[in-house]
Amino acid sequence: MQKRIVSGMRPTGKLHLGHYLGVIDNWVKLQNDFDCYFFVADWHALTTKYDKTENLRQDILDVTMDWLACGVDPEKSTIYVQSQIPEISELHLYLSMITPQNWVERDPTLKDMAKILKSKEGMASQINYGLMGYPVLMTADILMFNADFVPVGIDQVAHVELTRDIARRFNNVYNCNFFNEPQPKLNNCSLICGLDGNKMGKSFNNDIKISDTAEITAKKVMSAITDRSRMRKDDPGHPDECEVAFKYWKIFGNENEIETIRCECEKGLRGCADCKRQLGAKINERMAEIREKRKYYEEKPEVVQNILKDGAEKARKEAKNILKEIRSLIKMY
Ligand code: TRP
Ligand code: SF4
Repeated sequence: MQKRIVSGMRPTGKLHLGHYLGVIDNWVKLQNDFDCYFFVADWHALTTKYDKTENLRQDILDVTMDWLACGVDPEKSTIYVQSQIPEISELHLYLSMITPQNWVERDPTLKDMAKILKSKEGMASQINYGLMGYPVLMTADILMFNADFVPVGIDQVAHVELTRDIARRFNNVYNCNFFNEPQPKLNNCSLICGLDGNKMGKSFNNDIKISDTAEITAKKVMSAITDRSRMRKDDPGHPDECEVAFKYWKIFGNENEIETIRCECEKGLRGCADCKRQLGAKINERMAEIREKRKYYEEKPEVVQNILKDGAEKARKEAKNILKEIRSLIKMY
């Protein structure tokens, strides 16, 4: 039997190249060797955006379309929306009973979130009960399918540690050996930086979306930071100090191209504008098929809806079986 993987993403809307290269491409590879469960964590979105739900449905669709376009395959993996599996919320309730308060209070991500929220004005600046429970909800996502591995970014590893602690505690409290202690599988999240050299992120306005057109991509790439010390195009450049453009070349170019560019840049034979024009074309070449596929789904949202419906059905069947055993272990009526 294949080992099982569970991973989720919050519905943040259209995803960018950081998601593609760091997370989704990784999922696409994993689906050949593991029994994968990939879901859109819409309940998690509510923990901070409970009052901004106007775009939630569209955001869920956008995330799903990006996954499908990048090659997450409903024939191989189970793809669903978290809130379509109500069993997760019941499991969350049981797990909340056995989780000591200080285990969630020491969660580092939660502490960061609290700081960010506190810096904002108004209602949203308080930490709600649901947000406190975020890591326990994440634990329920994972244990609902008794995962062996959880692909996550480095910032989420503490959550998976908590999941292991809670799994162990459940086994102790109910005197069983029911839950695996799932292991984190690190994503390659620092692979691509934003156009300004900082972490690529939607809210930093420095991203290239998976769904951006070739024209928009080309334009965005022209704004990428290069070697700041370079004044004229025939000055010798320093590829290793070219903060963004050369780094992108190292991701999207082949070995020959990278070497040629390094050489030409160092000799002052290559202007940054030309270099970035070529880079834009290179990125577009790599993304062309994905974008075409995404267009197909955009034009056929009912296909996407059906994939999510089938995925939820499949996931729910498994969740029901597992929940039955959990209920019996807890000796619920
Ligand atoms: N908390 C994760 C994030 O913000 C998303 C997530 C929710 C998740 N539940 C999960 C990831 C379960 C892996 C497994 O990125
Ligand atoms: Fe960077 Fe290319 Fe300009 Fe060299 S020529 S500094 S690699 S953008």
